[in-house]
Amino acid sequence: PEAGADHRPDDGIVVIAHRGSSGIAPENTIAAVRAAVRQGAEQIENDVQRTADGALVIVHDPTLARTTNVEEVFPDRSPWRVGDFTLAEIKRLDAGSWFAPEFTGERVPTLSEWLRAVGPHRGMLLEAKAPELYPGIAEQLRHTLLGSREFTAALRRGDAVMQSFNHEWLREFDAVAPGVPVGLLFAGGPPSRDVLADAAGWAEQANPALGDVTPEIIDLIHSFGLTTHVWTVNDGQGMRRAINWGADGVITNYPQVLTGILSS
Ligand code: G3P
Ligand code: CA
Repeated sequence: PEAGADHRPDDGIVVIAHRGSSGIAPENTIAAVRAAVRQGAEQIENDVQRTADGALVIVHDPTLARTTNVEEVFPDRSPWRVGDFTLAEIKRLDAGSWFAPEFTGERVPTLSEWLRAVGPHRGMLLEAKAPELYPGIAEQLRHTLLGSREFTAALRRGDAVMQSFNHEWLREFDAVAPGVPVGLLFAGGPPSRDVLADAAGWAEQANPALGDVTPEIIDLIHSFGLTTHVWTVNDGQGMRRAINWGADGVITNYPQVLTGILSS
């Protein structure tokens, strides 16, 4: 792992806003990024996918149905997959009103818009969501990220990470962008010793769900020289547990709850 890539023992635990401050603003929008900045998150986590015409956009689900009004605007385009729409079509969608009326008019951001919104203020935890759906996205992300002033500045500060549940893809990304720290996400169980032993050779983080974590799992991750940011921890009790068990960072929809605990 690259020294200081993410683990900042002097600063204590890293406060990471999940999909932006998605507890109080619509996930994966610039409004959620701004809320995370206001609430004192140190890093902002968001998900990146690709449109039909090759634009990188910030959206979580493989379809647009849950977090936009796509069914209303394009009723005949079921199942409303992100990769079936052009950027111009996606920019017509409202990505805020499903959450609360005051966010009406929020748009699905492009990766470049996201980089400009996050970069001057906070660190970046970017998740490549379902990258297997988007051939060539590793090289495209490398090109876009390393061409971004905001991203390279965050990288120099040790404050930028690419993560994914798709470990094979993540390894490919690490090969094309060796200077960018990478984190393996785990769902449905904790990381195994074998997976960690392999990851230790090329990754920086192993990030399981809080429900899959024990103090022993965190120690095991650390024993391979990896750091761990646990997700998605939304209540104070869970946050205290993650902190006491030695997690390096906590990914939460409510960063202000975590900053409150850390400063008390
Ligand atoms: O950063 C961890 C977390 O984002 C993974 O789950 O489904 O919210 O992308 P998900
Ligand atoms: Ca995510």
